[in-house]
Amino acid sequence: ESTTTAAATNATEEEVEPLGRILYTGSQLWKTRGVTGDKVKVLAALRDENDISMWGGNTTSIDILVKPDSLDKVKERLTDNGIEFEVVIDDLQRAIDEENPTDIELDDRRVRKLPYKYILAWRGLSSLGNNLVLWPSANWGHRLTWQAYHRYSDIEGYLDYLAQTYPDLCTVQTIGSSVQGKAIRVLKISNGNPGNKAIWMDGGIHAREWISPATVTFIINQFVSNFESEPAAVQNTDWYITPVLNPDGYEYSHTRDRLWRKNRKGGGQCAGVDLNRNFGYRWGGRGASKNPCTETYGGSGPFSEPETSAVRNFIQGNSAANWKAYISFHSYGQYVLYPWGYDRVVPPDYKDLESVGRKIASAIRSVGGPHYTVGPAANTLYPASGGSDDWAKGMAKFKYSYTIELRDNGRYGFVLPAAYIQPTATEALAAVRVVAEAAAAA
Ligand code: ARG
Ligand code: ZN
Repeated sequence: ESTTTAAATNATEEEVEPLGRILYTGSQLWKTRGVTGDKVKVLAALRDENDISMWGGNTTSIDILVKPDSLDKVKERLTDNGIEFEVVIDDLQRAIDEENPTDIELDDRRVRKLPYKYILAWRGLSSLGNNLVLWPSANWGHRLTWQAYHRYSDIEGYLDYLAQTYPDLCTVQTIGSSVQGKAIRVLKISNGNPGNKAIWMDGGIHAREWISPATVTFIINQFVSNFESEPAAVQNTDWYITPVLNPDGYEYSHTRDRLWRKNRKGGGQCAGVDLNRNFGYRWGGRGASKNPCTETYGGSGPFSEPETSAVRNFIQGNSAANWKAYISFHSYGQYVLYPWGYDRVVPPDYKDLESVGRKIASAIRSVGGPHYTVGPAANTLYPASGGSDDWAKGMAKFKYSYTIELRDNGRYGFVLPAAYIQPTATEALAAVRVVAEAAAAA
């Protein structure tokens, strides 16, 4: 779906913005500290009173988004209850506006008035009126970069380009349709060796976590364009990769609400199912909501959503694949999580998951990345049932199943500037190579 409307080249940014975009002017991101015991309830009450939403953080330091009209009230409530906090983003809308160097399409080209600091980073520039026009798609065969967050059509175009350009290595298939009818696409990368293990990798289960699809496509690009120099374990794996599992939500987060998380089932205020509460293993347990109006609504039943059932059908229908590892990319918080997520328990072979998890974290460090915390999901973060990782381990019997929460640590949260795509994706690539090694040996 394209919301692009024809726009004069001298239109102001306001005029070319898609209609009806939710703005976060004056909303602030605060990092709280020392949130233990009853202090957790103070935050929960503020959330229920609609003054804040919870973004992330760890168990005692929680990032909260405070509504502009509630700043004084929340400050007072936190102070009265001895909760320390620090303002991390003082105007979320400004952070959103600065996050992505380009997001406006005009005709066949990408256009935006770019601050000069970005200009040097781009290739294929020309000018059109006051705007800069970035590489007409014909030059490259696709429109994807890793210097900006892109729309779903650019990502799809890139997958098609790969299938056309590298027919011996890459195939693309559609494994289902989203609620609104967008194709859910899987790229298979394979050298065709009969003994290959199979690894599933996905991004974009949660719409607003833009770093996830960007990271997954970066890894694809690295694998495909330097296939021969990848480690043997990478070359001798059948990769099944879907960069955006929730395309409706992803597009909605670009055109309407930057902070949208769920898919787009239904409509109005209470639209959407949290796809990472909709997988059919211990569905409907802790950390999943029955209320459609909440962020963690698990849907009407396990696999009620076309996006999640497409994954189930594809993986279970592909019994020729020797499935060994499942990797799901989310943001943020810098975690390497493994099952179980539904409760604070671990599978019998958790030591294997822990030891590969630690190798992942140290590979990330050794390419210059930051600290990632390793552990079982419910224990390390919070219990949440119906996650894809639990289903992969519990039902589909993948030996290794990880949810990797990418950068950052709450400086920008979901609104991670595009300049962080390359460093974040580089460390994720190191992580994925470790998983390939473990899968090869499993
Ligand atoms: N942030 C992720 C979520 O809330 C974490 C998922 C971890 N896995 C799990 N099965 N709980 O969906
Ligand atoms: Zn997520």
